[in-house]
Order: sequence, then C-alpha cells, then structure tokens
Amino acid sequence: MSSAGGARRLLVRDLAQLATPAGTAAPLRGSALGAIDVLEDAYILCAGGVVESVGPMRKLGTIDGDVEELDGRGLCAIPGLVDCHTHACFAGDRVEEFALRATGASYEELHAAGGGIMATVRATRAAGEPALAELVQEHRRWMLRAGTTTFESKSGYGLDLDTEVASLRAIRQEGGVPTWLGAHAVPPEFDDADAYLDFALSEVLPAAAPLAEAADVFVERGAFDPPQARRYLTACADAGLVLRLHGDQFTELGAVQLALELGARSIDHLEATGSEGVAALARSDVAAVLLPASALFLGRPMPPGRALVEAGAIVALATDFNPGSAFCESLPLITSLAATQLRLSPGEALAACTVNAAHVLGRADRLGRLAPGYAADIVLIDATDWRYLAYHLGGDPVAGVVRSGARAELR
Ligand code: NIG
Ligand code: FE
Repeated sequence: MSSAGGARRLLVRDLAQLATPAGTAAPLRGSALGAIDVLEDAYILCAGGVVESVGPMRKLGTIDGDVEELDGRGLCAIPGLVDCHTHACFAGDRVEEFALRATGASYEELHAAGGGIMATVRATRAAGEPALAELVQEHRRWMLRAGTTTFESKSGYGLDLDTEVASLRAIRQEGGVPTWLGAHAVPPEFDDADAYLDFALSEVLPAAAPLAEAADVFVERGAFDPPQARRYLTACADAGLVLRLHGDQFTELGAVQLALELGARSIDHLEATGSEGVAALARSDVAAVLLPASALFLGRPMPPGRALVEAGAIVALATDFNPGSAFCESLPLITSLAATQLRLSPGEALAACTVNAAHVLGRADRLGRLAPGYAADIVLIDATDWRYLAYHLGGDPVAGVVRSGARAELR
C-alpha cells in the first residue's frame, strides 16, 4: 500500500487512552469546547507526516510494509500542543527585574524607568541575526520538550528595521509562525508613539509584511492608545496581515471594541476585561487568547475564563512566553492554571491549546486533533488518564513527542 510521503510510517500502539477534541468543527465555542473523544486501548497509525487512522487496538488489522512501532503502554496520546502567543525571539534575560519585582517593584514602574521591554530591546538589538536564530532554536527546544509542536512567535524586541527583520527571519527559520509586533513599545530614539509609527509603517512594514503572517500591537497606557493602534492595524491589514492585539492587560482602554471593529483574529490577555467586553467577544468571531502564566507571574488578576466560555466566546490558551511577564514555555502548566484559576475543565483547556489555538494561527484544518488527515503531531502523556496533563501541577507529564509522524528528540 502506498501512502503520501513514501515508506515512513509510524504505529503508536497499546495506548491507555487517546484523547482528542471531538468532531471536525473549528473554532469551538460554549459546550462544544469541552467535548473530548476518549478511546481506550488505542492505536494511531501515521504515514507521510499525517494521521492515517486511529482506533481501538482490536480494530487494528495487519499492516503491510515497513512500520516503526512505538510502545504506548501506560501512556495517553493527545494532539501536539499549539502555542499561539509567544515572544520567543529575545536576547538576554530579566532575572534582575524578576528579583526586584519579587519584593515589590511593579512591572509598570520598571517599564516606565526604561527597564522592562526596553531592557530586552537593547539586548536583542545587540545580539545579531545568527545569535537570535540560535536563541529561538533554544526556546523552540524548550517548548517541544513541554509538548508544543507548533508555536507562534512575535518580533517586537527590535523596533528598528534591521532587528525586526532579523527577528522575523529567525522565527521562520526555526519553523515558528511569525507575527510582526511592530507596535510593542516606543523606542527611545523617538519622541512619541506617533513619530515611531510614522517610521514603523513607512520603513519596517514593507519589509516585515512578506515575512509575517500577522501583526500585533500592545494597547496600553505607556504603549499605544486605541487611535494609534487603529492606525497601525489598518495599515497592516492593507498589507495583507492578520490582525491581533494585546488588550486589557492592565486597563480596559477599548481594545475589545477596536478588535471587533477591525475584524481581528484575536485579542490576547484580557485580565482587565469586564462583563461588557465578555459579552461583546461572545457575539463576535474575535478569539480571546488567555495567558494565565502572565497574570500569575505578575501577580495580577486572572482573565475571566469561565465567563468567556459560558458566554460562547472563542477561547484559546497560550503561554505568552517572554523574558519579562511570563518566563514560561509550558502549555501543560497553562492547562493546570486554566483548571485551577480560570475554572476551565481539562477538556476545555485541551481544546483551547489545540484546536482553538490552531484556529488563531489559521491552521485548524490540519492541526489540533488526532484524526485522519490531521498532522501526525502527538504528545504522549506519562499517565493512564489524559487529564494528568492539567492535574499534575508543575509536573513533567510529557513522556514523548511525535512531530510530523517522526519521534522528536527531546533532550
Ligand atoms: O505579552 N504586554 C506586553 N508584552 C508582553 C511582555 C513583554 C515583556 O515584558 O518583555 C506580554 O506580556
Ligand atoms: Fe504577549
């Protein structure tokens, strides 16, 4: 029997459980979000980088030709995790700031004093493209070890032409889904946000647009206000980019309304979003990307996860991996935080960082489920109940990862 991609086939057999978001629809909302199909004593047959079939072991017939076998006894399989919001392209660290914050300095104070995001901008500008590519590679490995088989990464620590372009290239080189975060902060060589946007839109956008899939903006006091964000996003949409926003992280400034008005793919953070924002998102096709590690790391209120799910919004989860507000690459930990802090069920959390995260990245037709025709991206959980993914708080539940039908080297 011939299969796409030739002889490379992989059989994951004798799995205690296979757990996958039910159905084929995307994105998932409301009660559909938590519907997980669980098969006991299961197999997954992969060929040519995609799932050929899944089912109970008793239905597994004889397989012709060369097949590599992977022993799934004592393990559960879930879809490869999709991290739809990271800032993985940065140099340096902010461990000093972390220590200061631990005893009382606030993130916003550090930012206002020229630390915070600008400290990472200085380190990233100084690094150069080869070093940046190595750093993204290192971060990609950390994510893979935690079960992330697809990651998005933003630029946004360059904020000059050369470093933004180098960042987007480094992200692409490492297989990341690139987002141009050209409006992350106003760098010190500009007097104000409008002057910086004049430069970013005339000089950087033409070079960034062919390298990126989406554009993102930080709507916040001290960053960009809604009129500035509208100007930036409108120009980015005209250049063919999908629109995303960092909104309502500290203050509700109207970012939700702007996201709706511009038909953005997502608005991310939402820690400060009130009931009107929740209701507006629920009526829209704008995904709410929740980043509980960032709220935890900064000691901020959690976003209204349960309210968003119950109102029927499109909810996704991501790490926000970055050196300042969320030095955390683990989506398993995010699912634990979702269950304990956002009051999402383990099933809702799983769908939010598989199918719905794939939707945010425009890839839900091929990523986020373990079903025939989807990418053979599989995470093996070291437990006989898949919900240990969320249950084992801060544990290391990932026993193995398969990416495009091949076992991934994790260490
Ligand atoms: O999503 N809020 C703005 N941007 C990032 C943090 C970046 C940083 O602190 O370096 C975030 O939290
Ligand atoms: Fe972010």
